[in-house]
Amino acid sequence: MTTQEDLAQAVTLLEQGKLVAFPTETVYGLGADAENPQAVAAIYTAKGRPQNHPVIVHIAPEADINYWVQGCPAEAKILIQAFWPGPLTLILKRAAHIPDAVSGGQDTVGLRCPSHPVAQALLRAFKQGQGGLAAPSANKFGHVSPTTAAHVQEEFRDEALVAQIVDGGQSEVGIESTIVDLSRLATHGAVLLRPGHISQEQLEQVLGSKVAAPDVNAPRASGTLEAHYAPSTPVALVAVTELDLIIRQLVLAGKKVALMAYLPHQLAQVETLQAWRQLGQEPVSYAHDLYADLRELDHVMADIILVEALPESSAWQGVRDRLRRAAFDSQGVLQRMLGG
Ligand code: TXA
Ligand code: MG
Repeated sequence: MTTQEDLAQAVTLLEQGKLVAFPTETVYGLGADAENPQAVAAIYTAKGRPQNHPVIVHIAPEADINYWVQGCPAEAKILIQAFWPGPLTLILKRAAHIPDAVSGGQDTVGLRCPSHPVAQALLRAFKQGQGGLAAPSANKFGHVSPTTAAHVQEEFRDEALVAQIVDGGQSEVGIESTIVDLSRLATHGAVLLRPGHISQEQLEQVLGSKVAAPDVNAPRASGTLEAHYAPSTPVALVAVTELDLIIRQLVLAGKKVALMAYLPHQLAQVETLQAWRQLGQEPVSYAHDLYADLRELDHVMADIILVEALPESSAWQGVRDRLRRAAFDSQGVLQRMLGG
């Protein structure tokens, strides 16, 4: 766990422009001084991420949001009041002095105040609490996000670029923050760019108005690419009614099959599985274990990870979104495996 010395060292390294991975309640972030363009550029290099993808700036609870943005609309104040500190990122118009590097050249900035005590302690100590830490999830571009310090280590094993990994235990939420775009309110209203633990319904309830789904002109968000959050093993989403049949066909075709189940099945085929996990039956507990279990199943040398399709209700929106992207080529994967 984190000591005062760990935190002091992290602050020193960050103020020198180095990269430090740190825990948040959603996933671990790969942090750099948001006002140091070279430090931010190092994040992109370490992750192997395209330069034009913006990163989220994390700020302390006491930070002055007006330092970062050009005008803070009432909608932002309402959402901040309701959900900060917590797993909500707001996209707002960027103040002129905030470097281009954090926003991938867009005129906005993504801001989030995390609730994780270690993240808060770090942010309070960094630049006396007035700085910002640019931090994407601490994984290689397109991979599964890390929810433990060990996951971060696994991602950046031989990476001299990551100077320190601050350990804050397992992330509570387990999937990335909900992202709401408030930078185009006059023309588009509030737009949900990425679903998460804080649901569309909760946002609408607090705002008293509809939150739209992203449109073609919505600001870029890499977590919204079709293929993302993917383990190395191919993943396919399968409806519960087809699960037994597909497992049987795959095993007959000589494939090693891993399964992420949602319901506690009496699967006829369970004996033939390479490995399986049954995740929580509530979205909150499912999200908590999702990435850790995906990583574990990625290590069992299976040919394919089958994921049981989840309920269509809005409470599952965040988890469904991640799994759809992890399994972006379900049909193709199954066809290739079954030789059809
Ligand atoms: O929970 C989280 O949000 C985690 C933790 C570390 O805070 N961070 C995270 O960062 O998921 P990342 O970079 O993996 O995903 C951030 C998403 C990206 O899809 C990025 O494109 C989008 O936020 N984003 C950041 N700033 C933006 C901006 N100014 N406009 C549009 N999208 C933005
Ligand atoms: Mg990410």
